[in-house]
Formats: sequence, C-alpha cells, structure tokens
Amino acid sequence: MQTIRDLKIGGKRVLIRVDFNVPMDEAGNITDDLRIQTVMPTIEYALSQKARVILCSHMGRPKGKRIEKYSLTPVARYLSELLDRTVPLAPDCVGSATEKMVAAMKDGDIILLENLRFHAEEQKNDLEFAEQLARLADVYINNAFAVSHRAHASVVGVTTYVAEKAAGFLLQKELDYFHRSVDNPVRPLIAIVGGAKVSSKLGALTNMLDKVDAMLIGGAMANTFLKGQGYSVGASKVEDDLLQEASRFLADAGAKGAKVYLPVDVIAADSFSAGAVNKQVTIQDIPEGWMALDIGPASAICFQEVLADARTIIWNGPMGAFEMDPFAQGTRALAHTVATSHALSITGGGDSNAAVKKFGEAENISYMSTGGGAFLMLMEGKELPGVVALEN
Ligand code: 3PG
Repeated sequence: MQTIRDLKIGGKRVLIRVDFNVPMDEAGNITDDLRIQTVMPTIEYALSQKARVILCSHMGRPKGKRIEKYSLTPVARYLSELLDRTVPLAPDCVGSATEKMVAAMKDGDIILLENLRFHAEEQKNDLEFAEQLARLADVYINNAFAVSHRAHASVVGVTTYVAEKAAGFLLQKELDYFHRSVDNPVRPLIAIVGGAKVSSKLGALTNMLDKVDAMLIGGAMANTFLKGQGYSVGASKVEDDLLQEASRFLADAGAKGAKVYLPVDVIAADSFSAGAVNKQVTIQDIPEGWMALDIGPASAICFQEVLADARTIIWNGPMGAFEMDPFAQGTRALAHTVATSHALSITGGGDSNAAVKKFGEAENISYMSTGGGAFLMLMEGKELPGVVALEN
C-alpha cells in the first residue's frame, strides 16, 4: 500500500480523510483529543510539502441532516490552536461555496470541510456524492483508521475518482501495530476481551482463538459464558439468545486446547448504580436478583498471573462498569498489569482507552488504537473496506 510519502503532493490539492469523531461535553469542549493528536504528523507533513490540505471527517450520527451539535466548529477551533494558525471551516463538505474556497487556496493552506454525515449520501457510499468530493482534490489520503471499516463515500467511493491515493501515517501505523501484534507476535500472545456484549465480539473471539496463546474474558459479556456453563448469574446482564453459541465457543476452545479464562469471582451489586450494596462473591454464589458488575479480586489475580508471561497483549473492552468506583477495581488492576508489563501492549476501543487513561496508565501502553469498530473488524480477521479501496 502506498503512503503519503510515496506521492509528490507539493502544490496539489490533497483531500485527507480523518476521523475527528471525538467526544465532547455539553459546552462543546473536546474531552479526548487522541484522534486529533494522532493525525497531526500527516497534516504537518502535508503542510511542510506545501500541499493544499483539505481535511474531511464525520462527527456523530446526524443521519443526513444538518444538526448544529454535530458541526465540526469546535474541531476547527482546536486545530487552529494546535497549528497556531486559523483553520477555516468550509460551510459544507461539497457544493459551490466549498469549491470556491478550495479554488482560492494557496500552496501550504489548510481548510476543514463541514461534517460529511450532514449528507445521507455519505453513509450510502453514493457515487455522485463521492465524485463531488473527489472534484475538490488531486490526491486522496485515508488517515481515518477508525472509520475504515465503513464503506462510506469518503472512505471507499471517493477512491474511484481521484487521480492518486495513499494511506496517511496514522492508518499505516495502526495496521502495522495490529499485524505485528496479531499476525506476527512475539509469544506468548494474550488477548483480554471484555465489555458489555458477546454479540458484538463473538466474531473477534472466534478468530482470535486460533491466534492467541491465552484469552481472558471479563466484563458483562462474561456473564453469558458463565450462564451457558450452568452458573446462576442472578440479574446480571446476559444475552440469552447466545448461550448456546457461548458454550460452543468454550467447547471449541477446549477441543483445540486453547486456554480461555473466565472470572472465578465477581463484585455483585443489588442494582446498577455506584451507591448499590455490593459484595465479592464466587461465581457459584451470585445472589438471586443481584448483578455482576466487575471481576472479583481472585479473578484479577488469576488474570494477572496469566499476563505475567505475556510478550504481546491485545486488549479490547473493560472488565466491569469501571466508570463507577465500586466496580472499577478489576479494570484498574489489569490496566496496571498491562502498563507495567514488558510485553508489547495494544488497546483498542473507546472504553479500554478511556479506562487506561482514567487509571493514569496510558503513557505505558505501547499503542492505543484510535479505532473501535475498525479494531474489532481486524480482530475478526476481516479486511477493512477503506484499506481494500486504497489497494485496488
Ligand atoms: C467510531 O467512533 O468508531 C468511528 O468514528 C465510526 O463511527 P460510526 O460507528 O458512527 O460509524
């Protein structure tokens, strides 16, 4: 796959697809800038080459309508501060006003286009819309790993119409880290998988089973596996329609001799709230009407022992409801173990990244992926449509 460095971009109009879908508070302040900071090297490189840099991104899911709270105005402001120069925001991502703004750009200029998803055509991969976007540029750069699992117009369709296309540094780095850790790992490779739903992760678990030396399963999704094994999990969150599949997964793992670890104890609570009455119980003793909201200390120790030998760790999904202090200990303990391990450690998904940040461990994680769905799709062993489109 070509990267931006392989192309001559000086003096050319370079459309860079980024993922500025960043979390914001009610007042429109950006609360986590990982997705902005990580694309800066590509932007700075393009500017240093005197390209005319046109950034485009989506924000949220406005469903094809112009909704002010999904405007990229706060991002334009943030970028202007980072670059110490004004980054103008075009009124739209396509259309004559934007075309005029682009036509007036000089070498080394930069603009940001307004939210791509204000047009329903973006998510439909509408080719006319893709052609309109492509009309703005001579070169297309995909630097939006986090949305490369979506076959959208600015990710896939646009590549049909531009003269030249390549990956930005972030996309390249994300793919390199992932393949280094999963396809060519220093062993043992241990996967930690948690979060709420088995349904969204079964594909990833199944694919990863053949790749890892051990797998640790925690978070609410562990309840479905435990119930499938015959434990009574009280009022814990369970996907009842997946009990059989969960059991089959564990049986397959057993048949393959793969090591899959489930919690042996949990922190159970009488309701889903920080103030709930809670206690540590073994998985045999979850009281009727109570719910498991974190792995327990015995499970954390067991998981930490498995991780002690790891040379590569891939982590997706927290061990419990870590946003509430009483249920944060399992995730906190593993975050610390992963961060202090000598293994190459990679975290993916908004919640895992938020957790390692919350517990002050982010600096010691080898690589924090900017992707959620895209990271999972790689874990499922599938190719990302945005990457395939660049290669074709
Ligand atoms: C993400 O946050 O995972 C990406 O920006 C993609 O967003 P989407 O799930 O709304 O397509």
